[in-house]
Amino acid sequence: MSPSSAFDAQRQALTKALTHYDSVVTDGASSSALVTAEHQIYLASKALTTQLKPPGVFALDLVFPVVIACQLGIFDIVEDETTIEELAVKTVRIMRALASADIFTQPRRNAYAATKFSRKLRERPARTWTMASLFFMNKMCMNLPEALAQDAYRNPADPAKAAMTKAFGVPLWSMLENDENARLTFDTAMEQQDDLPLEMIPDQEVDWFAMLGDVPATEIAFVDVGGGNGHAMSKIAELTRGRIEGRFVLQDQQGTVESLQSTAQRLPFECTVHNFFEKQPIRGAKVYHIRRCLHDWSDNTCEQILRHLRDAMKPGYSRVLIHEFVLPVVGAQQREVLFDILMMCLTGSERDEEQWETLLQRSGLRIVKIWRAKIGHMAIIEAEAV
Ligand SMILES: C[S@@+](CC[C@H](N)C(=O)[O-])C[C@H]1O[C@@H](n2cnc3c(N)ncnc32)[C@H](O)[C@@H]1O
Repeated sequence: MSPSSAFDAQRQALTKALTHYDSVVTDGASSSALVTAEHQIYLASKALTTQLKPPGVFALDLVFPVVIACQLGIFDIVEDETTIEELAVKTVRIMRALASADIFTQPRRNAYAATKFSRKLRERPARTWTMASLFFMNKMCMNLPEALAQDAYRNPADPAKAAMTKAFGVPLWSMLENDENARLTFDTAMEQQDDLPLEMIPDQEVDWFAMLGDVPATEIAFVDVGGGNGHAMSKIAELTRGRIEGRFVLQDQQGTVESLQSTAQRLPFECTVHNFFEKQPIRGAKVYHIRRCLHDWSDNTCEQILRHLRDAMKPGYSRVLIHEFVLPVVGAQQREVLFDILMMCLTGSERDEEQWETLLQRSGLRIVKIWRAKIGHMAIIEAEAV
């Protein structure tokens, strides 16, 4: 079934369930008939909501069968209609669980069909992120209550006492520096986070050409601090399609930079090793961009990182772009606050506008503008040195 016909089918099923409910109420039917009618609305509205979810793995409500299916390679096999015999009969119970969460459909007995979700899970970043949520994030969160209790329920600020360290014996960033597999898994999983519909990504809102277009080819236009696999910069390069002459430079820890440099693929940026707790070696760049790094750390630690950027800025010219959630005081979305819990396990936090303002002020910076995504609360905070 194509995505739009699946949507139409679920929309009709919901209309039917609502109409049925109305007739049950009008007829004054028994309470069990009413409960059944309500349940049909619940099932139909859940299935319709699933059709509207972006196919990123946050849409998946049933992580453990998904992880089993990832390991068995099921997502690579199931096409428009695949029978249990083709899948090997032993997977039938896993398929049934996945169909119950609308990750596959079941067009007839003993046959299953791919959906936008199952197709998404053929991609490495989505698959890696899903596996990490079971093996890694769950373990970290299981240790959070004890970590909080041992620190009198204060906001975690010391990585040595954090839930992450309790769960794995080392802070996350030390683990990634010393374990190449963990590093590769982490960097790949981070790419998955870009899997949002365009309107949820503030990069689309920024006029990159107006911001960077005047930087000559000899100078540095854009530094991506803690840039990971470089997908933020690749996207900006794609959005501006070679209209910006200035140089783009990615900075990250040694393992990430070495693995980027070892790829055969030609990168649309330069990359160098830099520890963001040390003096910023690139002075006077037009933009210092830092995405999803500050949410990993407490305010005091973020201040250290930001002060190094501030000291490198050319007054009246350079900008810092902080690309993170700017949470509303009321009405934060589930995905955003679940991230906050994960960050709590590392001593980090998602922040609201007032918290960002205070942190920037402490770091010698002032907000010039907040570029907000059209949907959700991802934003780019543009700041200048005071
Ligand atoms: C949550 S990831 C975000 C990656 C990327 N900016 C993105 O948006 O996907 C945080 C990044 O910070 C990097 N990082 C952690 N500690 C660092 C340090 N001391 N110096 C430089 N980079 C660091 C990690 O290697 C990782 O790539």
